[in-house]
Amino acid sequence: MSERTILYLRFDWLRFRARCSVRGRRGLESPSKKLHLGCGSRHVNGWLNIDVRGSDFDVDLANLPLPWKDDCFESVVSQQVIEHLDLRLELVPLLRDLFRMAKSGAELWLCCPDLEKACRAYAVDHGLTLYQDALTRGGIVLPEGMPVQHYINDLFHQDGSHKNLYDLELMTWALESAGFSNCERVTEGEMLNRFSEFPPRRDDVQSIYIRAIKPK
Ligand SMILES: C[S@@+](CC[C@H](N)C(=O)[O-])C[C@H]1O[C@@H](n2cnc3c(N)ncnc32)[C@H](O)[C@@H]1O
Repeated sequence: MSERTILYLRFDWLRFRARCSVRGRRGLESPSKKLHLGCGSRHVNGWLNIDVRGSDFDVDLANLPLPWKDDCFESVVSQQVIEHLDLRLELVPLLRDLFRMAKSGAELWLCCPDLEKACRAYAVDHGLTLYQDALTRGGIVLPEGMPVQHYINDLFHQDGSHKNLYDLELMTWALESAGFSNCERVTEGEMLNRFSEFPPRRDDVQSIYIRAIKPK
């Protein structure tokens, strides 16, 4: 079995396990009005940190509806997660479910690798600046002598785990399809000013940050 197949099987197993643990659970009260979606190892105090494993409450984000009741979250933050979901089959349905669980006036803050920045970076310097920025943050290291444009490839597919990248127009379409409005480009700094409890990722150079609102 290839290394890639083992990776996929392992992640599918985690998704299956999370699905089984949530089965039959609906309308739950959340311990926090703030939802941190796809937290990974970054558990943020005061937030309900969810992911497929090792979180406050393990879920498969593609297994909807999520178990919490309607109108229960005031803020939702998700960093570097939506690119792991299929746009039409998984992300738009997830955004609709987040809309259901968001209180009116709730804020949704998302970020992911920026489609526009990746394409511009290739045209400008084959991705060298993006790659150098990633190296300062401990990102992937390309094998000695490999042309740097492979870093752009990696942003797009990341060993098969990335499904789509987004620019402002595409993400706004997805958010508005789900009912959100006032979609605007923001920066990581603005997100950290709003929620100072989040540790910085310092990934503005390659990422797009967007904020949207559930209309009142
Ligand atoms: C690149 S990591 C980002 C983690 C964290 N948000 C951060 O900023 O470092 C992507 C996260 O999305 C989670 N994820 C991807 N697909 C998922 C799914 N279908 N259900 C639950 N979590 C998922 C992964 O488990 C992983 O923790």
